[in-house]
Amino acid sequence: MISIKPATPTFVAEIGDVDLARLTDADFADIEAAFERYAVLIFHNQPITEEQQLAFARRFGELEVSVQPFVQTPGGKRRIGDGMQDISNLDENGKLLSESDNRRLINLANQFWHTDSSFKRRPARMSMLTAQSVVSTGGETEFADMRAAWDALPADRQQKLEGLIAEHDYYRSRLMVGLDPKSISPERRALRPAVPQVLVRTHPATGRKSLYLASHITRIFGMDAAEGRNLVDELTAHATQRAFVYQHRWTVDDVVLWDNRCTMHRGRPFDESLPRAMRRATISDVGPTVPEDSHPAA
Ligand code: OGA
Ligand code: MN
Repeated sequence: MISIKPATPTFVAEIGDVDLARLTDADFADIEAAFERYAVLIFHNQPITEEQQLAFARRFGELEVSVQPFVQTPGGKRRIGDGMQDISNLDENGKLLSESDNRRLINLANQFWHTDSSFKRRPARMSMLTAQSVVSTGGETEFADMRAAWDALPADRQQKLEGLIAEHDYYRSRLMVGLDPKSISPERRALRPAVPQVLVRTHPATGRKSLYLASHITRIFGMDAAEGRNLVDELTAHATQRAFVYQHRWTVDDVVLWDNRCTMHRGRPFDESLPRAMRRATISDVGPTVPEDSHPAA
């Protein structure tokens, strides 16, 4: 039997008495139940291989295929194997990326509050990050509970938000970190079109509602630009108040997984002359939040 130690009453739990390298079906069932009930799960001292990480992640559903390897890595060479995101400041040979390297810029966008792959029609259900090299100062990852943020809104406010649809665009967050717009060829642009997402989600396992926000949002359909921007910025500030936020400080061989349907997260800055290396397996949600035939492509 796994042990479940809440780090906060309902948001984050530490899972113990388990070996992720040889996970039984019964233990997985308990882990998945904890994942649905909390939203962020932390495991310590789990030195799992890439294969073991992929096998654990795949128990949650279908592995997300990313176009990242093709657009990001010169010559297609990668530091880690296929199937996972390279969340590091290292190149394919394990050397620190230069300041101007596009891969560094693209990962810098992780320092804005976001939820993974909301820029895809079918976004991410779960992300699982494992730590191979950590920094001792900075470099934490913060998580915001979007269910608690929703619950804290007055009922009349909630009512006005239900039914709204936002446009999410991968390139909004990347342009904010200074990616050169000229480096986005029409082919790269076409690989990641902007997509619609509901602004309020209902969690299928718990029935709890949450705000669905990210730094990828460009606009709210049916609102003019300023009104939509103000709304998104105000809700983001509300949802990321310290009361709703948990900060994880990394240790090597930590495994942290989170529910992208009801959380946001961001990485914190750190001294980039030091290596920080993690890898992320991402599991797709069961479908789009806005049915493909009910809303025009953004
Ligand atoms: C991610 C991410 C933040 C961090 O891996 O999806 O946003 O702290 N990471 O590296
Ligand atoms: Mn992320």
